[in-house]
Amino acid sequence: MAAVTRHIPIRSDVDVVEARAASREVANRVGFSGIDQVLIATAVSEIARNIIEYARAGEVLISAIDGGRRKGVEIIFLDEGPGIADITQALEAGFTTSRGLGMGLPGARRLMDEFDIASRVGRGTTVKMRKWLA
Ligand SMILES: Nc1ncnc2c1ncn2[C@@H]1O[C@H](COP(=O)(O)OP(=O)(O)OP(=O)(O)O)[C@@H](O)[C@H]1O
Ligand SMILES: [Mg+2]
Repeated sequence: MAAVTRHIPIRSDVDVVEARAASREVANRVGFSGIDQVLIATAVSEIARNIIEYARAGEVLISAIDGGRRKGVEIIFLDEGPGIADITQALEAGFTTSRGLGMGLPGARRLMDEFDIASRVGRGTTVKMRKWLA
């Protein structure tokens, strides 16, 4: 069960900052520690930054989730950008098609418990990630 608590359109750096702050607030409300709040916010800003960089615009949905015995946070990122041809390669540390470090996707994946990318070239990309309260 997921109740979407925040929906943030992503068009500029200001929106990335807002998504970061919103994810931290939701994580705080769910009961995550301050450290975990920062880790979640860091993952969110990396993936939101990719939306700006590669797709120019998109959106972020942040939800508190209740898996029955455990609670957590779920963040979904949607864009209608160029898509990712090889998701396995994109997730490799150091792989970049820009001048980045190629650490955004692998870094975010490491910080979260669940991390899924769905993408179609020419159509867009969806990233869904979750972290559960220990
Ligand atoms: N939303 C997206 N749409 C299209 N391609 C993407 C998207 N997000 C990531 N990619 C592709 O995946 C590659 C790896 O992304 P990642 O965030 O790991 O590194 P980076 O953005 O290149 O560098 P860094 O994030 O370290 O500054 C990108 O270079 C890009 O080719
Ligand atoms: Mg990146």
